[in-house]
Amino acid sequence: MKVCLVTGGMGFIGSNFIRYLFESNLDFKVINVDKLTYAGNPENLKDIEEKHPNQYKFYKMDICDFKAVDEIILKNDVDYIINFAAESHVDRSIINPSLFCDTNISGTISLLNSAKKNNIKKYLQISTDEVYGSLNFNDAPFTENHQLAPNSPYSASKASADLLVRAYYKSFNLPVNITRCSNNYGPYQFPEKLIPLMINNSLNNKSLPVYGKGINVRDWLHVKDHCKAILKVLKEGRIGEIYNIGGDSEIANIELVEKILKILDKPQSLIKFVKDRPGHDLRYAMNHNKITKELHWKPDVDFEKGLKMTVDWYISNRIWLENIITKEYLKFYEKQYKNR
Ligand code: NAD
Ligand code: DAU
Repeated sequence: MKVCLVTGGMGFIGSNFIRYLFESNLDFKVINVDKLTYAGNPENLKDIEEKHPNQYKFYKMDICDFKAVDEIILKNDVDYIINFAAESHVDRSIINPSLFCDTNISGTISLLNSAKKNNIKKYLQISTDEVYGSLNFNDAPFTENHQLAPNSPYSASKASADLLVRAYYKSFNLPVNITRCSNNYGPYQFPEKLIPLMINNSLNNKSLPVYGKGINVRDWLHVKDHCKAILKVLKEGRIGEIYNIGGDSEIANIELVEKILKILDKPQSLIKFVKDRPGHDLRYAMNHNKITKELHWKPDVDFEKGLKMTVDWYISNRIWLENIITKEYLKFYEKQYKNR
């Protein structure tokens, strides 16, 4: 049985990935290491914890704490490390860049050091399309060879981490892969990100804050498709390689918000155009030919269907949504939008 250390497994993509591993009936033991920031929610995996006590173990821990993480890796005889743990919200990185450097850069180096010390079979870094910067409307999608040109403290911290992963491969022969994915959507996403925020606000008849003119384009991928791609890269990815992952579903923010309102049968008058995000990237789009050709992965979930499924999930899980929206978060949210 292989032992897989997943960091950030109580967050959106990490918890979906752990769920996907168990659904796939693989011979894996999963060690989940998560600091439980505002974005980490143990409720996401309560059923998995109950159903698989011998195959799943959770440790509340900061990945920056090398000693603690190293002890867990040694004790559990870990084969693979998949690093999802991160401060992940661009708007927050503009308010507090240092926190992003701590977790996203120092946290990564702490894991890399332990991976090196313990002769890990593979270290997989979960990165983002944002490290490439921004495209114009008529530019070709990003390939893996595109220059790194991050524009936010979040994406700069992720790009820095990618470079460290590369350096550990080149300097120490550490077996690594990096995946760079476009915007994910689906169940268990914290409602500060565009899709769940707009769903939650619509359900509560609150205004929907669209930054600038709403013309910015994102390429959406259902989280389950992302999880499938990650598992493929873990199992079959060529050592030292970077793989782009994308959804082939580019859409402008305003069109996306209008779709959500239509699904929920809510009035377009809820839309409120607000001050733009500083350094707001205009467009992301991914060329995923490499993973498609080499590992036979492609996105399966149709965006229209996936969006409807996601809206339905939030409607069916209103208690999950209500529990995650703490008073502290509401205060933060109100303050952020008051200034726009
Ligand atoms: P998220 O914010 O939902 O979850 C992050 C998780 O990391 C949380 O559970 C949090 O508690 C944990 N965490 C934060 N700091 C930690 C620390 N110091 N030590 C241990 N745990 C810590 O994020 P997400 O959207 O699930 O993103 C997961 C990863 O995927 C991130 O690395 C992100 O950069 C990357 N990514 C996200 C997207 C997306 O659209 N959401 C797209 C591409 C890549
Ligand atoms: O592209 C991958 C990245 O996608 C990940 O690396 C990040 O972790 C993830 O947060 C996401 O970043 P974005 O900045 O693209 O996602 P966000 O949901 O914050 O915003 C999506 C778009 O919607 C962006 O153009 C900003 C806009 N927006 C966002 C919010 C929260 C609004 O117009 N209004 C809003 O209230």
